[in-house]
Amino acid sequence: MSERATTTRAEIGVIGGSGFYQLLTDTEQVRINTPYGEPSDAVSVGAIAGRRVAFIPRHGRDHRIPPHKINYRANLWALRSLGVRQILAPCAVGALRRDLPPGTVVVPDQLVDRTSGRVQTFYDVGAVHVPFADPYCEEGRTAVLKAAAAARCEVRDGGTMVVVEGPRFSTRAESQWFAAAGWSLVNMTGHPETVLARELALCYTSVALVTDLDAGIDARESVDQKSVFSVFAQNTERMRSLVLGAVELLPERQDCRCSAALDGLQLPLRLP
Ligand code: ADE
Repeated sequence: MSERATTTRAEIGVIGGSGFYQLLTDTEQVRINTPYGEPSDAVSVGAIAGRRVAFIPRHGRDHRIPPHKINYRANLWALRSLGVRQILAPCAVGALRRDLPPGTVVVPDQLVDRTSGRVQTFYDVGAVHVPFADPYCEEGRTAVLKAAAAARCEVRDGGTMVVVEGPRFSTRAESQWFAAAGWSLVNMTGHPETVLARELALCYTSVALVTDLDAGIDARESVDQKSVFSVFAQNTERMRSLVLGAVELLPERQDCRCSAALDGLQLPLRLP
């Protein structure tokens, strides 16, 4: 392992969530500074099946950064500056439906933002309004679903993830309200990570592991951090192999709408 300012390149980025602090063992550690400050940690860059992959642990490798303090802009900018164009984003989620028990893996297809006060754009000047109707990359979602089928790993295709500000969990009333709206999953990091990826024309695919039934769904218990971390720990290896399988199946040339999100727009800054 080495640490240096870099000419290192990667094409695929993985942003690991709670319990997911390492993807590959044989990696180069790259420290990157960005115009937005430092990413959550050094980026580990390695290769899987001939594809160059850059990994950032979203909360830092010692999990010191809570969801509302993550420098999402720096993480996305750092990955793009390495050449990354597609991102796989494993994360822990609570379920808002009983038919998504802990241990279920979901590849969501929609997102609702209930965060507040987070910086959620790179474009503070000018008129840059990116399309975000479909927040996740269809090609990336397909790659994860195919990788899961090949590994005989059961996953659910689709679902809406509501992102709350945290760091507290939701009240029962909030949780029941989210469920009544028809949303399936609740999490604290999916926004603004997803939209910032879109603002850099990066394809972004969330791979969500259900760690708990949220408070309004489980009448007896309320969610606690210990059980969230423990369910993730039991499933880390399964999530890791699913992500590695998906890396191999991501298209080498993107032909999706997210990769064209900035076409025709006048950008006030130069992307790395
Ligand atoms: N992450 C994991 N479980 C969660 C929950 N119930 N609410 C918000 N974020 C979560």
